[in-house]
Amino acid sequence: MQIVTSRIELQDHLDHLRGNGKSIGLVPTMGFLHKGHISLIKRAVDENDFVVTTIFVNPLQFAAHEDLSTYPRDIEQDSALCEQAGTSIIFAPEVHEMFSDTVLTSITVNSLSAVLEGVSRPTHFAGVATVVSKIFNVVGPCNSYFGEKDWQQLQIIKKMVDDLSYRVNVIGCPIIRDNDGLALSSRNIYLSDEERNQASIIPQTLKNAHLKIKSGENSTQEIKNLIHDQLQEKQLISVDYVALVDSDSLEPVTEIDEKTRILVAVRIGSARLIDNINAHSGLFSS
Ligand code: PAJ
Repeated sequence: MQIVTSRIELQDHLDHLRGNGKSIGLVPTMGFLHKGHISLIKRAVDENDFVVTTIFVNPLQFAAHEDLSTYPRDIEQDSALCEQAGTSIIFAPEVHEMFSDTVLTSITVNSLSAVLEGVSRPTHFAGVATVVSKIFNVVGPCNSYFGEKDWQQLQIIKKMVDDLSYRVNVIGCPIIRDNDGLALSSRNIYLSDEERNQASIIPQTLKNAHLKIKSGENSTQEIKNLIHDQLQEKQLISVDYVALVDSDSLEPVTEIDEKTRILVAVRIGSARLIDNINAHSGLFSS
C-alpha cells in the first residue's frame, strides 16, 4: 500500500492504471476509520482492481463554530486499517494541496442541500460537494462508495454526478451499526458513557417506527410523534429533526410507501448524531 499526498502524482498513477485496463474503486473519508468506513473499502476491493481511500478532513464543510480543529485524527491507525482492508493507495493531502487560500469556486446542489441537515448547517453540503467534486477530478473515472449513514449526502453526490456528467459510478452502502444498533460514526467518540447509553434510543425508535408501519400505521404524523416522544424521554437528548421524506427528492411525504425514508438528527452532549432507515425494510437493510 502506498500513501500519496500529491494530486499530480495520484492523477498520473491512476491514469497509468486505467491505461492498462484496471478499474479503480474510490472511498472518500475524513479518516478516524471505523467498521463503517472499512465496509466501504472492502466492497470497493471486491468490485475493483485498485482501491484509493482518501483521508482528508475537509475544512470547507465545517462552519466556523463546528469541530474542525478537534475532529479526531489518527493517520497511523487509519493506514493499518486501510492496508488490512485491501486499500492500494491512501490519498492523504495537506489542506494547501487541495485548496489555495482563496477558493472562489463552489458546487451547490440546490434544494437537496437546503433541507434536513442543511437547515442547521447551511454551508455544509456545498463544502462536501466541492471537495468530492475535486476528489472526482483528481481520481478520474472510477466506482465510488458512500455510506447510507449520510443519506442526504449520498443523494446530493448522486445528483451532482448526474447533473455534471462526472465519469463516476456512485454506489451506496448499508449502515454499519454497533451491537445496540447505534450507527458507527467518528463523532461517537465525543460521547460520555452516559450519553453513549442514552444514544441507543436512536436506532430503537427507528426500529419501533418500522414495526408500527409494518403493523399498518400509515400516518407520517403519527410516526413522527412516536419517534419524537421516545427520543425526548432521554434527558440528554434534544431532537433536531424527525422527517419522513421521499428517498431521492428528500421532499416530505404524507403517506408512507416503499420509497419513504425516515431520518433523524439529535444533539447529545457536544455531539450531533444522525441516523435513517427505509420505512418499509427497517433498520438493518437499505
Ligand atoms: P466520513 O464521515 O469520514 O465518512 C466517509 C464515508 O463513510 C461516507 O460515505 C459515510 O457515509 C460512510 N460512513 C460513515 N459511517 C458509516 C457507517 N456507520 N456505515 C456505513 N458507512 C458509513 O462523509 C464524509 O466523511 C465526508 O463528508 C466526505 C464524503 C469524505 C467528504 O469530505
